[in-house]
Amino acid sequence: MGMRRIPFINLKAQYLSIKEEVKVALERVLESGVFTLGEEVGHFEKEFAQYCGTRYCVALNSGTSALHLALLAMGIKEGDEVLTTAYSFIAPAEAVSYTGAKPVFVDIDPLSFNIDVSRIRGAITKKTKAILPVHLYGEPSRMDRLLEVAREYGLAVVEDACQAHGAECLLVGEWKKVGTLGDIGCFSFYPTKNLAAFGEGGAVVTDNVEFYEKIRMLRNHGQKGKDYHPFLGYNYRMAAFQGAILRVKLKRLNSWIEARRRKARLYSQLLEDTSLVIPKEARDSRAVYHQYVVRTPKRDELRGYLEERGIETGLYYPLPIPLQEAYRSLGHKKGDFPAAEACAQECLSLPLYPELGEEDIEYICYSIREWAKSSEEEVGESFLPKSKI
Ligand SMILES: Cc1ncc(COP(=O)(O)O)c(C=O)c1O
Repeated sequence: MGMRRIPFINLKAQYLSIKEEVKVALERVLESGVFTLGEEVGHFEKEFAQYCGTRYCVALNSGTSALHLALLAMGIKEGDEVLTTAYSFIAPAEAVSYTGAKPVFVDIDPLSFNIDVSRIRGAITKKTKAILPVHLYGEPSRMDRLLEVAREYGLAVVEDACQAHGAECLLVGEWKKVGTLGDIGCFSFYPTKNLAAFGEGGAVVTDNVEFYEKIRMLRNHGQKGKDYHPFLGYNYRMAAFQGAILRVKLKRLNSWIEARRRKARLYSQLLEDTSLVIPKEARDSRAVYHQYVVRTPKRDELRGYLEERGIETGLYYPLPIPLQEAYRSLGHKKGDFPAAEACAQECLSLPLYPELGEEDIEYICYSIREWAKSSEEEVGESFLPKSKI
């Protein structure tokens, strides 16, 4: 019997499920002769704004560009400070640095992996202009409390929703999508994201017409009308092919999110009584499980054990942003961000995508439980796989 192999990501499975429609969309772009922005991107912007529940969307060439332009549109500049999380992909901090402002890192709440809102007040100075929370792994940050602090100090809020398309929070009795709670929401459509292009892509959403107009100009060399440039901008335009593909995929996003949530629930049922720390969804939020992340102090041992059984896992993120060499000049040292540092050593991402089979999840959880037994961790006795392994 050959060993089962479960890849961490499987982009082909999703492509096969929409192949014919994708071909039609690409053909449409080829026939149109318009390869950057154009009608397809324009339609996608309207459809994505409608999906999120905002007035405006500007499609861009990456999530990093989205963060950069969001901060620029708000006037963030050298001499300013922007509060952001210590534990994430580096892009949000990079975007702050691109503007000349200083990223001020705040440690995380180790259960949600997101910025610890109770530490935000203590990090605010006279130079603080904005807060940039990341909804990591598809789990919303504590936006109710974060917005309260932002209001109290008059700070702008840019949400990094690059991993959280469609995730929701209950705010004042109403379910709202992340990215629409602050002043500007930023998204990535990088190929592995929950809503993904076949290449690079990103977008901002906002209700603010001034930010919208500024970002539209910034993405296209600061151009207003043809060949008139009131200020300098960038080439951050979205390719027409990506707009066309994203339109095909956006129609399926909700059903893909449901599939991810079902699969996350199955993981949680099967791992509930082990010593692993598993994701806990807050009652007033709906996560979209871009990743299913477990915690154990023996992370590397577990990872090796699963690898031997053909199960590929991921490390997101093994080194907190402030401790990266790129930010050496800020002078942070080990021990400054204890929660982020613990997560960097203990977090393990298990495979999770809409097409992942339930029997694969059962095999993964069975393997984890076998590992737990062999490494003398405490586990319950009651595990019986629901189907043949
Ligand atoms: C949390 C977060 N922010 C920002 C980005 C940047 O997006 P992009 O790769 O599209 O530039 C990513 C993903 O790559 C991300 O995971």
